[in-house]
Amino acid sequence: MESTPHINPTGPIAKTVLVPGDPLRAKFISENFLEDAVQFNAVRGALGFTGTYQGAEVSVMGTGMGIPTTAIYAYELIHKYGVKNLIRVGSCGGMQPQVKLYDIVVAASASTDSNFMSQYNLPGTYAPTCSWKLLKALNEEAEKQGVEMHVGNVLSSDVFYNAQADATERWQKMGVLGAEMEAAGLYATAAAAGVDALALFTCSDSLVTGEATTAEQRQNSFTKMMELALPLAKL
Ligand code: HPA
Repeated sequence: MESTPHINPTGPIAKTVLVPGDPLRAKFISENFLEDAVQFNAVRGALGFTGTYQGAEVSVMGTGMGIPTTAIYAYELIHKYGVKNLIRVGSCGGMQPQVKLYDIVVAASASTDSNFMSQYNLPGTYAPTCSWKLLKALNEEAEKQGVEMHVGNVLSSDVFYNAQADATERWQKMGVLGAEMEAAGLYATAAAAGVDALALFTCSDSLVTGEATTAEQRQNSFTKMMELALPLAKL
């Protein structure tokens, strides 16, 4: 397969790709959840692997943090390698009291403070939205497995250390469930290409209480998220 500026495929890429931010998490998923996995990318440390889960071919690739890098990989996976389903598996900061540590949050939509959407030159404000096909399938899995999820709007922010002290509070008042840094760019890139995308998160810290998870606890809740997301490879 031909390479792009950021992906040099040394193995197959499945039509469904899980996209965690952390490349080492991609490696962890490959080693602990996939069968017969082979690495397909190492350019810039954006580790990518393809294997099978319950018999369905699936890839997993780290995107790095933030909309720009996530959108680069999403664009190339879609436009150069024919990827049809992109599923972000990440962490988020809980922004509402009902979103507790380790809870699963799903971005039905993703608000943003990013200027990424300006490239589409739309005569209004674009609302980055998940794929109903993927959300419906995820919800069916969650019901089957008896897992509760918070589904709604998240904030995909370009800014982790915000100079505006009240920025978080203003989004909280709009009912935004959690803060992360990628989903809006992923959804817009998928929408512009007519493919499906979904982002789900485990709540790793609370912007309401200031609590944070330990590494070991994160690992356990992460397993729950993977067991919900990976069956979507069958679609
Ligand atoms: N902000 C942005 N991204 C995050 C956070 C946060 O508080 N927590 C985990 N990812």
